[in-house]
Order: sequence, then C-alpha cells, then structure tokens
Amino acid sequence: MKRVRKAVIPAAGFGTRFLSATKAQPKEMLPIVDTPAIQYIVEEAVESGIEEILIITGRNKRAIEDHFDTSVELEQLLQQQGKKKQLEMVRRLADIRVHFIRQKAPRGLGDAIYCAKAFVANEPFAVLLGDDVVYNPEYPCLKQLIDAYDTYGSTILGAQMVSDDMVSSYGIVAGTPITESVYKVDGLVEKPKKELAPSNLAVLGRYILTPDVFEQLERIPLGAGNELQLTDALAQLESPIHALAYEGRRYDVGNRFGYLQAMLEYGLRNETVSEALKEYLKSLNLDEFQ
Ligand code: G1P
Repeated sequence: MKRVRKAVIPAAGFGTRFLSATKAQPKEMLPIVDTPAIQYIVEEAVESGIEEILIITGRNKRAIEDHFDTSVELEQLLQQQGKKKQLEMVRRLADIRVHFIRQKAPRGLGDAIYCAKAFVANEPFAVLLGDDVVYNPEYPCLKQLIDAYDTYGSTILGAQMVSDDMVSSYGIVAGTPITESVYKVDGLVEKPKKELAPSNLAVLGRYILTPDVFEQLERIPLGAGNELQLTDALAQLESPIHALAYEGRRYDVGNRFGYLQAMLEYGLRNETVSEALKEYLKSLNLDEFQ
C-alpha cells in the first residue's frame, strides 16, 4: 500500500462571507491572532508527515504564494535586528515544499480537486479545507486520518457529529459504526435538508482520497449550487470508504462567528496575550453591548 505523502489544499474561493476584508486579499490569509488561517492548515499537514503540498488558488491569491516564499529583505532585516525566533519562523515557512496551481473558474470543490490530478500521480492523497481549523496539538487531525488510512487502505473522511440545525451546511454520512470512532460509509449526501439527513455525522474538512476519485469527477454532472461536488464523486466510488470521527476542537473559520471563536480561543492559548486577554474578558460588562 502506498504511503500518504501529498496534500491538496483548495484555496480558490472568493470569500464573499468576509467582504470587505476579502475584496483585495485572500480569505485564507485572514489572521487568527498573528498567524494566517492557511498556515495552521499547512503546519497540520507537515506535522502529520506530509512531504509535498499543492495549494489550488485563483485570481487575487498571490499573497498566499508570497507567504510560503523566501523573503530575502525580511530575513536580512530580522538578522540585523537579532530577531532570531522570527527569522527561524520565516525560514521554516519558506522551506515547506508548497506548489501552486490556479483553478480557472469557480466551478466547485470537485473541480478544484480535479486540478490536482497530475500532482497526485496515482497516489493516495490528503485534502485539507481551509475553512476548518482543528486544534489538537497532541495528535494532529490529519495524522489521525492517515493512521486510519494505514489501517483500512480506503478513502477516509474526517467527520464529527453536528447539531440538527447544522446538517444542511455539510456533507452528511450514512454509515455503520465499526469501532468507537470509525464508520463504514454506506452513502453520502451533500447539504441535505434536516428531515432527509441520514445522520448527524458531518464531513468536516479533512479527507484521504484514493486516485479513483478522478474518474468519478470526470463522470458526475454538476450538483448542488450548479458546482462540481466532491461529495457526489465520493458517493459514486466503487472502492470502500470509511469515516473517522476525529478528535480535536474544530473551528469553522469560514463564517464570522466561527472565526471570532477561533480568534478568542487561540488568543487564550497564546502565551504572549493569554493573561491580558483573560483579565480583559473578565472585566467586560456584557450588558453594555445591547
Ligand atoms: C464543503 C463540502 C462539504 C463539507 C464542508 C465542510 O462544503 O462540500 O461536504 O461538509 O466543506 O468541510 P462548503 O463548506 O465548501 O460549502
């Protein structure tokens, strides 16, 4: 069985939910405390043992390419100023093997993944969606999926239970539990109505895919929102699929409230601001904000 060495990160979306912040900059570069959201995702991939990353971009996304490039002037300045920690950090970012390709039109997640066909070259690969930031410093979310792939050798969907009112926002799994956290997937529905959802187990931003997904992406018609849906291609696969209920605090940074939750909680974990932030939160009189 081939090892999972490659990861694909789709980052071509317009980020309309974050206008006007995203008019001239990619939503993936919005910071959570002091770090762009996409850096958390890339670091999770690297910590999970991924060696090559392909980011699918589009127009207005050059800041992402710059972020993972060498910045000679910045490095010189940090060296002159003796800022060793920052220098190490910017060098580490430029050392990660990140490649870029542009999706030419916003035709959906399935189409974005299809752009990775040549990069993937017939190997199993990981997909990490930038809207889902998962905090688990002990056991990175993607590593949990890779370990499940090593056990089952199948497509693995990263999932968690969501409340009834949220099922219509996600891909939902119909499955049979085979361990405490692993389900054999019998069916998948993209964003079903609450009454039609087969369960509350939602696919949340992490996948290990096998290359047969590309044949299905070529075959399926446009789905929800008139876009090529990854979920529809997965639902057509003949090879087995498992869903892993992964462990970790997951933030949906693709919506305002999830983004604010992430900002607050990462702030509360950040040693340089945590104490001051706790004091500040305690001092707030919430009744003033009516
Ligand atoms: C995508 C997928 C969906 C998944 C969700 C969260 O939807 O199509 O199946 O549950 O991401 O990871 P989007 O949020 O891009 O509309």
